[in-house]
Amino acid sequence: MLVDALQHPVPAGATESTVLGPFYSDGSPLRPMGSSTVEQEGSGEPTFVSGTVRGTDGRPVGGAVLDVWQNAANQLYTIQDPQQPPGNLRGRFRTGADGSFAFWSVRPVDYRIPDDGPVGRMLAAAGRHPWRPAHLHLMISATGFHSVATHFFDRTSPNLAGDNVFGVKPSLVVDFVPHGSDERGVPDGWNGTWYTVERDVVPVPRE
Ligand SMILES: [Fe+2]
Repeated sequence: MLVDALQHPVPAGATESTVLGPFYSDGSPLRPMGSSTVEQEGSGEPTFVSGTVRGTDGRPVGGAVLDVWQNAANQLYTIQDPQQPPGNLRGRFRTGADGSFAFWSVRPVDYRIPDDGPVGRMLAAAGRHPWRPAHLHLMISATGFHSVATHFFDRTSPNLAGDNVFGVKPSLVVDFVPHGSDERGVPDGWNGTWYTVERDVVPVPRE
């Protein structure tokens, strides 16, 4: 996070970056806009994420690619978990001319970083816990803009103030708005609470 702070200052109104993290892998499935990253039942509570990729001048950015990844209700990312299909909760989405993006996923959950090795011993020595606050990872790239790797953090996470990798920035905290199963837009066959997240993404233009 110190390297991130030194390397990625952004102008006012642009989306701040945060750590890429160890659970990214390239080659996520290209998916149609509006579709779902969920490839396995039981991955979590349905969540619809939407917004617009736009410049700091407000103009929509067409042809931007959002690469998204996150964990399932069991705290694990698919690359940690042989029980999940390799594409589960991962995907790439390309914006159209209006810059808008939308996809279904599940609500991410707080998770423990692997602490069974040297990292765990370092955390223990520092008296720190291994938890990260729930978040969705996004990496946005578009012609004429700097790529940005960032997170959407869940405002209700109990670990928001104690992220063990210090990745939280206040501008990256979002609301997972709850909806009942009687509300319009509920996924077919879902009888519980589901969520919507709406947030624009603003990459920094190249000089
Ligand atoms: Fe993560």
